[in-house]
Amino acid sequence: MSMIEFRDVQKYYGKFHALKDINLEIDKGETVVLIGPSGSGKSTLARTVNGLETIQEGQLIVNGHDIADRKTDINRIRTDVGMVFQHFNLYQNKNVLENVMLAPRIVLKLDETENKKRAMDILDQVGLADKAENMPSQISGGQAQRVAIARSLAMRPKCMLFDEPTSALDPEMIDDVLRVIKYVTSQSDMTSLIVTHEMGFAQEVANRVIFMDQGQILADDETSKFFENPSNPRAKQFLSKIIKH
Ligand SMILES: Nc1ncnc2c1ncn2[C@@H]1O[C@H](COP(=O)(O)OP(=O)(O)O)[C@@H](O)[C@H]1O
Ligand SMILES: [Mg+2]
Repeated sequence: MSMIEFRDVQKYYGKFHALKDINLEIDKGETVVLIGPSGSGKSTLARTVNGLETIQEGQLIVNGHDIADRKTDINRIRTDVGMVFQHFNLYQNKNVLENVMLAPRIVLKLDETENKKRAMDILDQVGLADKAENMPSQISGGQAQRVAIARSLAMRPKCMLFDEPTSALDPEMIDDVLRVIKYVTSQSDMTSLIVTHEMGFAQEVANRVIFMDQGQILADDETSKFFENPSNPRAKQFLSKIIKH
């Protein structure tokens, strides 16, 4: 069963052709890493999946629902599909626990006792139970990103999108965040699409690696194949460049 399916998708920003002939199927439970040069369309592709960007042609089916169909409830899709960005945007005037409890309270209408119990469980999973009462200004960037992940997980999504979740972090905080993402992706019923430049991490978690350039998918390879000998020469070039880095 596929969780995400792009069929001949075209995306334009005005006249600029940002996604070209995208065909991509991600099965339930799969972890797919998306890489490519800056400006290649990675964020655009990820953002179409939960309707943050519209598509102009083709079909995009997410968890059985056609995103472009007017009858599709986009809020329902966003409940099923969590997203974590490069710049964590926590509610600065609410403590860590409240940040995690807010959406389940409003969207899922969970009662307070159940909501708090679940939120504390999730904070425990991301290693931050002891920071529950802290304000966002009182935790590190890496911890804030883990709260952002916890906040998404509190909605019990079927699918998670990560868009360069560690790119804005100091090096010493990256591993803690990657460890949490690895834990999330190891849940057998979770589907994940991860944009990242962390190639060691990609090698550990991904079932497949997709390489994009100039709005096109140029390679879609099984992980071991991708790192040994990617099917596209530009992917090979890109890989050797970032691994040297
Ligand atoms: N809102 C927008 N309006 C116009 N052009 C955009 C917009 N967002 C992104 N683009 C352009 O689309 C291309 C792909 O961008 P993006 O998806 O952010 O790439 P990546 O995440 O791979 O760096 C870039 O050329 C970028 O300038
Ligand atoms: Mg991007």
